Amino acid sequence: MSNLTFGIIKPDAVKAGNHGKIIDRILAAGFKIRGLKLIHQTREEAEGFYAVHAGKGFFDELVDFMSSGPCVVLALEKDGAVKAWRDLMGATNPAEAAEGTLRKEFASSIGENAVHGSDSDENAAIEVAYFFSKLELV
Ligand code: CMP
Repeated sequence: MSNLTFGIIKPDAVKAGNHGKIIDRILAAGFKIRGLKLIHQTREEAEGFYAVHAGKGFFDELVDFMSSGPCVVLALEKDGAVKAWRDLMGATNPAEAAEGTLRKEFASSIGENAVHGSDSDENAAIEVAYFFSKLELV
């Protein structure tokens, strides 16, 4: 079990001005922020990040949305970080997200669902490296 995971505060949440509140919740939940920056992905960068979903019915919508505006990318440290961050985010579909989760509070649909989190330690390492250089991680 690794202690590092990767997160995105997606364009819907940044556009709505909720990124500060979400970062507060991340810190209150006991994560250490090891990397943080505001980026605006190109369509190609979003396609590369979500390559595992290429060919799925929602892929075009997903990469259009993720490149539609600025988002915040995060490298987060905590014991059992992958699960802890997924627990704080809640279910992918906000209609199924539990009370107290970020998606329950901030997401509007399965596509515009406020936050992303890695689904495994292996993918966390890949995703952190996709967006952060070593110099950008403390
Ligand atoms: P995320 O955790 O970023 O990983 C892949 C994303 O695809 C997911 O969150 C959703 O936002 C999106 N997604 C998954 N299923 C659907 C769907 N049926 N329709 C639209 N977007 C989806």
